[in-house]
Amino acid sequence: MTLLIVSPHRSDLSRWQQALQTCAPDLDIAVWPQVTVPEDITFALAWQQPAGIWQQFPNLRCVSSFGAGVDHLLQDVDLPTDTPIVRLVDPLLAQSMFEYIAAAVMGILRDFDVYETQQMGGLWQSHTPTLSQHCTVGIMGLGQLGTYTAQKLVKLGFNVVGWARSPKQIEGVTAYSGDAQLPQFLQQTQILVCLLPLTAQTRDILNLDLLAQLPRPAYLINVARGAHLVEADLLAALDAGYLRGACLDVFRQEPLPPTHPFWAHPKIRVTPHSSSITNPESVAPQIVENYRRSQTGAPLLNQVSRSRGY
Ligand code: GLV
Repeated sequence: MTLLIVSPHRSDLSRWQQALQTCAPDLDIAVWPQVTVPEDITFALAWQQPAGIWQQFPNLRCVSSFGAGVDHLLQDVDLPTDTPIVRLVDPLLAQSMFEYIAAAVMGILRDFDVYETQQMGGLWQSHTPTLSQHCTVGIMGLGQLGTYTAQKLVKLGFNVVGWARSPKQIEGVTAYSGDAQLPQFLQQTQILVCLLPLTAQTRDILNLDLLAQLPRPAYLINVARGAHLVEADLLAALDAGYLRGACLDVFRQEPLPPTHPFWAHPKIRVTPHSSSITNPESVAPQIVENYRRSQTGAPLLNQVSRSRGY
């Protein structure tokens, strides 16, 4: 029985191997594409797996994502539909995500984007800062990352509203749910943060119609998936003055192609899918635990519902 690591574009796989081996010294680990006996593979840890990879592993019992998102596994038509999928739930992942969002939100609050532009023109002009209690941050997606971020932003003094598919209760946060309450959520959201899972319902959700419902000019932070955002609609919303800017960590095509208009857009800040990077040492115990559970048929931790899509 072997655990397979599949992540062709990741440069730190030996650190992952080491972290797993420290938790389970007797665990047999293979790193794709070096697989000598495909029949031995019973568990896989996968990210950006190549197409058509799963057919060669007839004894696969479970696949774990490398992170919180599982869309790369749910959309993989080659992964048998009865293979359970699990995701990683990790306090460090949530903390790191919050810290990225807090940095972006604070930068907007204190006009760092405006001052950056002014600096390029040598312009000395101050703007009265907005205070956190006068700023409403709206978080779309109130799962583990969204809830943690909302709670921390409340502690920083922001007004925080949230929106999710189903009703949620988070202390200090006004939470809206479902299509019917989306307009109410959007009408008050000055800084919109997308932390939604990518599903058929949420694909393309950040479109011109939605962005037009925000108070003007609002700001967009997308740290979920590139496919949530209709890219041409973001450019249109910036041109129309619906948005003052956007901070994007995820893109429809990653790496973002060198000629993509987002790179040079003065109102768009680009980061390379780095808002929250999984820490191998922190998540190795839950991967090993799920590996063990999958071998005995015990209930898995953080199993994803294929029908819900997260
Ligand atoms: C990163 O994008 C993740 O899904 O953890």
